[in-house]
Amino acid sequence: MSTVTTAWTPLRLRESLLPNRVWLSPMCQYSADEFGAPTDWHLAHYGARAAGGVGMVMVECTGVAPDMRTTRRDLGLWSERQTEGHRRLASAIRSIGSVPAIQLGAAGRKSSHGVPWDNAGTRHPIGPHDGGWQPLAPSPIPFAGLAVPTEMTTEDGARVLGDIERAARNAHRAGYEAVELHGASGYLFHEFLSPLANHRTDAWGGDLEGRMRFPLEMVEAVRAGWPDEKPVIVRMPATDLLDGGLTADETVRVAARLHEEGVDMVDISSGALSPDALRISEPLYNARYGPGLRTTGIRTAASGLVTEARQLDEAVPELVDAVFVGRALLRDPYWALRALDAEPRDSWPKQYHRAF
Ligand SMILES: Cc1cc2nc3c(=O)[nH]c(=O)nc-3n(C[C@H](O)[C@H](O)[C@H](O)COP(=O)(O)O)c2cc1C
Repeated sequence: MSTVTTAWTPLRLRESLLPNRVWLSPMCQYSADEFGAPTDWHLAHYGARAAGGVGMVMVECTGVAPDMRTTRRDLGLWSERQTEGHRRLASAIRSIGSVPAIQLGAAGRKSSHGVPWDNAGTRHPIGPHDGGWQPLAPSPIPFAGLAVPTEMTTEDGARVLGDIERAARNAHRAGYEAVELHGASGYLFHEFLSPLANHRTDAWGGDLEGRMRFPLEMVEAVRAGWPDEKPVIVRMPATDLLDGGLTADETVRVAARLHEEGVDMVDISSGALSPDALRISEPLYNARYGPGLRTTGIRTAASGLVTEARQLDEAVPELVDAVFVGRALLRDPYWALRALDAEPRDSWPKQYHRAF
């Protein structure tokens, strides 16, 4: 039996107490109903992971507006109907034993494509005449294979900031305890930050200071719709892993500014701005950027190939304050309880005690 290591100890972010530091990473299920609201699939999927002992369930990337989703099957949080569905989902996660959190997304140039299983796993664009929409981005530079996006005007930007504030307010009303802004994976926030996707010459482009201006406004919009006592997390790239892209030194400067703007934690990601980005497939491939980002005083979390219990202890607390686990928890909702390897009657749901 393992001794309790830091990964299994509580972590406080503002007034939210996370019972441990092993969390479900946000993973799109592409299973929303026709109104963008959660379905039975979400209740079963997230309910099982909540029963599986993770300290926080981060619900998948949820669009702040119809044209900010990646696909028509993404969850949304712009309507009352969606908010009602999320209230049920957040309540289920909490009552089953985890802390409900939600990732808010604005997909930018990576929006309006098909769901992965409809085209043999490839990302195929869906045009406005086929039920899709025209994507918006900082500059008219496409993500490989997807539509050339329209360059955002000042009015478009103001509209998106309003959408973000409304989604944050709805997330609070639905009962989520933490919110994460999706600022990585080549989505809008990341597109503005990266010199490879942002060629603007106005106040939202240019040097790093200019390129981080709109992302910081996105954070301000989240904070405007979200109460002070609840934590805000930003999933951000530690580097583009591309020649001429964002560097690790630059993202430390971004993290420092996020910290000043009231962001409590960065959830470290890397690459994904373009298919050419270097793919690193070694354990803890994002957590290794934690010590650098932590120098700013901000809390850190990371996903990225944590598949064995010992890797939790390698990561926390040396590299990061918490770990998001993705694919291992898709394969096995009880991965965390198995990794904890404690006396089942002390850790597994009481409904299952007779199994042991
Ligand atoms: C099916 C699937 C869906 C995903 N959807 C999202 C998402 O909605 N938002 C996000 O930030 N990352 C998403 N990711 C990335 C994961 O959250 C995670 O960062 C990544 O898989 C690396 O962690 P892992 O090695 O533990 O899986 C997704 C990954 C998978 C496999």
